[in-house]
Amino acid sequence: MELLHAIEPLRARLHARRRAGHRIGLVPTMGNLHQGHLDLVERARAQCDAVVVSIFVNPLQFGPQEDYDSYPRTLTADCALLEPLQVDWLFAPNVAEMYPQGQGAGVIRVGTPAIADILCGANRPGHFSGVTTVVSKLFNIVQPDRAYFGEKDYQQLAIIRALVRDLDFPITITGVPTRREADGLAMSSRNGRLSSDDRQRAPLLYRALCETADRLRAGDRNLDQLCAQARDTLTAAGFAVDYFTVLAADDLSPALPAQRNLVILVAAKIGSTRLIDNLVVNV
Ligand code: PAJ
Repeated sequence: MELLHAIEPLRARLHARRRAGHRIGLVPTMGNLHQGHLDLVERARAQCDAVVVSIFVNPLQFGPQEDYDSYPRTLTADCALLEPLQVDWLFAPNVAEMYPQGQGAGVIRVGTPAIADILCGANRPGHFSGVTTVVSKLFNIVQPDRAYFGEKDYQQLAIIRALVRDLDFPITITGVPTRREADGLAMSSRNGRLSSDDRQRAPLLYRALCETADRLRAGDRNLDQLCAQARDTLTAAGFAVDYFTVLAADDLSPALPAQRNLVILVAAKIGSTRLIDNLVVNV
C-alpha cells in the first residue's frame, strides 16, 4: 500500500491503471478505522482491480459546535489495519490540499436533495452539503468505477445515491451492511468516547430498533405509537433522543400504510456522544 498526501501523484497512478482497463474502487472514510470500514475495503478488493481508500476529516461537514478538532486522527494505526487488505493507495490529503481556496463563501458547495433536510440534516445544518461536496471532489479526483458506503449512515447513503443520479457521476454505488459489536452496538469511530457506563447502555439503541421491527413484523401499524414508546424507553434509560422514526426504506418518504419496505432510524445522545443506527424491515 502506498500512502499519498497529494492529488496529482494519485491521479498519475490511477491514470495508468485506468488505461490498462482496470476497474477502480473507492472507499471514502474519515479514518479511525474499525471493522465496519474494513468491510467496505474488503468488498472493494473483491470487486475491483485497484482500490483507493481515502482518509480525510472533512471540516466542511462539521458544524461550529461539533467535534472537528477532537475527531480521532489515528493514521499510523489505520495504515496497519489496511496493510493486510491489499489496498493499492491510501489517499490522506490535508485540508489545504482539498480546499486550497479555503472553506468560505468563495468556494462552490455541492447542493443536497430534500431528504438532506430531515433526520440528521435537521439538527446538523450544512452537514450533508459538506458530505456531497467532499464526496464529489473525491469522485473527481479518483474517478472510480465503484464507490462503497455503509448502510450504518443510511441517510448519507441515500443522499450519495441521489448525488450520483442527479449529477450523472458514472459510478456504481454499493451499500454495505452495518457491522456490529457482539452486543449489537453498531461500530463507530465515536464509540471509543463512551464512558464504560454509557458503553454498557449503548446497545439499547439497537435493542429498541429490533423490538420495533418485531412489532412491525407482527402487524402493528401504529407507527406514531411504536416510535413514541421506543423514545420513552430510550429516554428512561438516559438517552437524549434526537429522532426515532419509521420511513419508507427506498426514498425516506413518510411511511404509508401500504408500504412494505420500511426503515427504522434513530439518533440519540448518550453522555456527550451522539450515536445513530437504523434497521430495514420488510413487512
Ligand atoms: P466515516 O464515518 O469514517 O465512515 C466511512 C464509511 O464507513 C461510511 O460509508 C460509513 O457509512 C461506513 N461505516 C461506518 N461505520 C460502519 C459500520 N459499523 N458498518 C458498516 N459501515 C460503516 O461517513 C463518513 O466517514 C464521511 O461522511 C465520508 C463519507 C467519508 C465523507 O467525508
